[in-house]
Amino acid sequence: TFYLAIFGARVSAVLMKNMDKEVKRSRLAEQLYKHYASTAIPKGIHCLSLRLTDEYSSNAHARKQLPPPELLPLLSDNSFQHYILASDNILAASVVVSSTVRSSSVPEKVVFHVITDKKTYPGMHSWFALNSVSPAIVEVKGVHQFDWLTRENVPVLEAIENHRGVRNHYHGDHGTVSSASDNPRVLASKLQARSPKYISLLNHLRIYLPELFPSLNKVVFLDDDIVVQRDLSPLWEIDLEGKVNGAVETCRGEDNWVMSKRFRTYFNFSHPVIDRSLDPDECAWAYGMNIFDLEAWRKTNIRDTYHFWLKENLKAGLTLWKFGTLPPALIAFRGHVHGIDPSWHMLGLGYQESTDIESVKKAAVIHYNGQCKPWLDIAFKNLQPFWTKHVNYSNDFIRNCHILEPLYDR
Ligand SMILES: *[C@@H]1O[C@H](CO)[C@@H](O)[C@H](O)[C@H]1NC(C)=O
Ligand SMILES: *[C@@H]1O[C@H](CO)[C@@H](O)[C@H](O)[C@H]1NC(C)=O
Repeated sequence: TFYLAIFGARVSAVLMKNMDKEVKRSRLAEQLYKHYASTAIPKGIHCLSLRLTDEYSSNAHARKQLPPPELLPLLSDNSFQHYILASDNILAASVVVSSTVRSSSVPEKVVFHVITDKKTYPGMHSWFALNSVSPAIVEVKGVHQFDWLTRENVPVLEAIENHRGVRNHYHGDHGTVSSASDNPRVLASKLQARSPKYISLLNHLRIYLPELFPSLNKVVFLDDDIVVQRDLSPLWEIDLEGKVNGAVETCRGEDNWVMSKRFRTYFNFSHPVIDRSLDPDECAWAYGMNIFDLEAWRKTNIRDTYHFWLKENLKAGLTLWKFGTLPPALIAFRGHVHGIDPSWHMLGLGYQESTDIESVKKAAVIHYNGQCKPWLDIAFKNLQPFWTKHVNYSNDFIRNCHILEPLYDR
């Protein structure tokens, strides 16, 4: 913390140099604080991961096969509802899974495929082995357990992770930040772009769903910063009209920050490659809760297009788009997106405290996209209970790690 404080102070000093207004100073300081708060792993969550990893080596129950051998055929049975979640946050994953199962009208038809990284695998496996969501079924897989994910099939990802631009980007070349500093929101986005989260394989993983789940036809992919509040079964009945990706479009809303996004929001139209390839007015859509028709997907070249554009962005020194894994997907899925009703997926709970609580209550899926994740200190206190209600505070691991304990005091 001490080191971070010093580092933060130095960054601030550089950033503040050319700023005149006190107001800007404090808004910026707040954004910086939020950045550090949002990228640091809270102690409780770290503790949970360590203890569950420990449990994996010491307790045979934590290592038991998931699902049990007699249920293995269900993992590729298309008469079930298959949900896929990629996360390295065990607590967040547990909330997604238990809220989905609890909200389902047919929990016995729910199959969860939880994918995590190699480091988190033992802990994630322990959690779901020790906390059954029966009658729903859960499998836990590490990225290292997919034979398909080889360097050969995923050529650009390693290149991206090793790319000097990304390293500088992440480890900070602070000049770039200060040039955007008149707008704290732009700054927040830039800082967010530096987070390792945006350059990890887990985050790009959804572009490989057809190959990772070769026998599945239709799946729902969920982000780990969401809560499911309604039965999602009807998603499988939506006629996607031959399209691949059922998603909520994000260009038809009122608010500037979340629901009025077009391609110009995500791409650098001053760059000739973007300018001649894309339409700035094209509507954007959201990741977080998508229904994917993998059969339709397998007939497309979405993955190649995605790879092509990742490479183009590398060639251009990462100047084609701002951050995240959504921009290359916005290009790759062009013409393959079917807009679904916005009430399926409400965005922005990590950006805006002023979110309308009545709409939050009604939404099928609420999404804490933005920095203020519900498991962080900086969470919005009025929105946090929609998430914490799915945390099991009588669980020994949760209790012993004092997760979000201040809540008890209120
Ligand atoms: C956008 O592209 C232009 C032209 O290549 C470049 O000068 C500029 O730095 C880029 N902007 C960002 C934010 O990368
Ligand atoms: C919460 O955890 C306790 C103790 O592990 C367990 O007995 C109980 O079934 C859990 N409750 C839910 C709703 O998962």
